[in-house]
Amino acid sequence: MKRILLFLMIGLVSVCFAACGNDTANKSSENVNSSEKRILVAYFSRADENTGGVGYIEKGNTRILAEMLAEMTKADLFEIKPTKPYPKEYIPATEVAKQEKEENTRPEIVGELPDIQKYDVILLGYPIWWSDLPMAVYTFLERENFSGKVIAPFCTHEGSGIGSTEQYIEKATQAKVLNGLEMRGSMAQNSPQEAKEELAKWLDAIGLK
Ligand SMILES: Cc1cc2nc3c(=O)[nH]c(=O)nc-3n(C[C@H](O)[C@H](O)[C@H](O)COP(=O)(O)O)c2cc1C
Repeated sequence: MKRILLFLMIGLVSVCFAACGNDTANKSSENVNSSEKRILVAYFSRADENTGGVGYIEKGNTRILAEMLAEMTKADLFEIKPTKPYPKEYIPATEVAKQEKEENTRPEIVGELPDIQKYDVILLGYPIWWSDLPMAVYTFLERENFSGKVIAPFCTHEGSGIGSTEQYIEKATQAKVLNGLEMRGSMAQNSPQEAKEELAKWLDAIGLK
């Protein structure tokens, strides 16, 4: 009788160990799944003469961050590119952008848009223009269907920060908008290592490490 009891107890303990083992396996696979979200990095960025002491730049500040993020998250990359380029000089570019904002225009953008349904999360990058998104970013947001999607905004600026642009994105898309990242454009341009560390912290904070 004692022997039978002993066998029964050993059996019970093994079942318990097996169950605990499975639990651990399930948890780790959940973690894997959450880091395997299908991600698109869509960004707008302008090279040429810029503010913040960077002068004439070959690669826009936001584009630098967009490329880093795409590499860090193994995401697809899409550039929101207006068909009509902005003036190369800074002041004339700001004047064109100001008029576009005042008239609430939707500048045409180049090429076929990506299929948003293929993605779970969209990292949306843009420079702050007149405390707003460049109007071409609205063209992109309004032509796509973001219902049920998550948008994580990241912006570069030279003083005004991200402002109310997270709310503007929410209003334009009805998507779930996560806490955005704001960074000086000059930092993205001049201190890429520091910029990358900031991006890593942000990805961690929004659960996309
Ligand atoms: C048309 C225009 C308007 C801008 N308006 C603002 C602004 O309102 N607030 C701000 O902090 N920076 C402003 N900036 C500076 C840009 O946000 C900043 O330089 C940004 O890093 C540029 O990014 P990009 O190189 O990716 O285009 C403006 C720049 C341009 C060209």
